[in-house]
Amino acid sequence: MRLDAFLAKAAQMSRADAKQALRRGRVTVDGQVCRDGARHVEETAAVALDGAPLGVKQYVYIMLDKPAGVVSASRDARDTTVADLVREAYPRRELFPAGRLDKDSTGFVLLTDDGALAHAILAPRRHVAKTYTVEIDAPVTRAMTEGFAAGVTLADGTRLAHAELRAEEGARVCEVVLTQGVYHQIKRMFGVFGAGVVSLRRTAIGDVRLDGALGPGGYRELTAAELEKLSGGVL
Ligand code: URA
Repeated sequence: MRLDAFLAKAAQMSRADAKQALRRGRVTVDGQVCRDGARHVEETAAVALDGAPLGVKQYVYIMLDKPAGVVSASRDARDTTVADLVREAYPRRELFPAGRLDKDSTGFVLLTDDGALAHAILAPRRHVAKTYTVEIDAPVTRAMTEGFAAGVTLADGTRLAHAELRAEEGARVCEVVLTQGVYHQIKRMFGVFGAGVVSLRRTAIGDVRLDGALGPGGYRELTAAELEKLSGGVL
């Protein structure tokens, strides 16, 4: 690709900033200053800006701790979206959430521009587990635990796959593990047992746990080990 395009992608610079950096001699290719934005460089070329090596990442994978009140979408006319929260840091990426949380739910949202990984995580046949901490407005009962394990039939007749409900009997805070992603699934599942959801937080996708250090609205890229766990050989 052209060197100016490489810079724009790898350093997240505008084309104008990339041109200026080139003019000022801040860019080297294989150790030599290069001022020619039209020069063709291979993806593997050793390009550096101010001496710091740059590499073009094909895709990015971001772990976001979604705050309440933010919608799981790329863009929205009215509400702040999960993509809006990271746009400043990734201005030239078209990021979208791989799976949705309700507006009032919080926790782990994976943002990426890699459609294949998003599809793999969401595909029902891959059964990637999503783990939630849920507070309900009634005590957990044995009927709930057994019902979730057997597979709940929702009020509209939808028959769900089995799910796991982990809690002491009588507790109001529990952990729920799903392998499906039906709209408002957990709220509707508890609704079948006459309980309302007070708060819902996704704490893990597959074997990757939400980083507790992030806090609401915090984000970071997945580590290589986390990405490997999620992609599980599909990439
Ligand atoms: N189930 C729900 O009801 N809401 C969510 O946000 C996620 C799972």
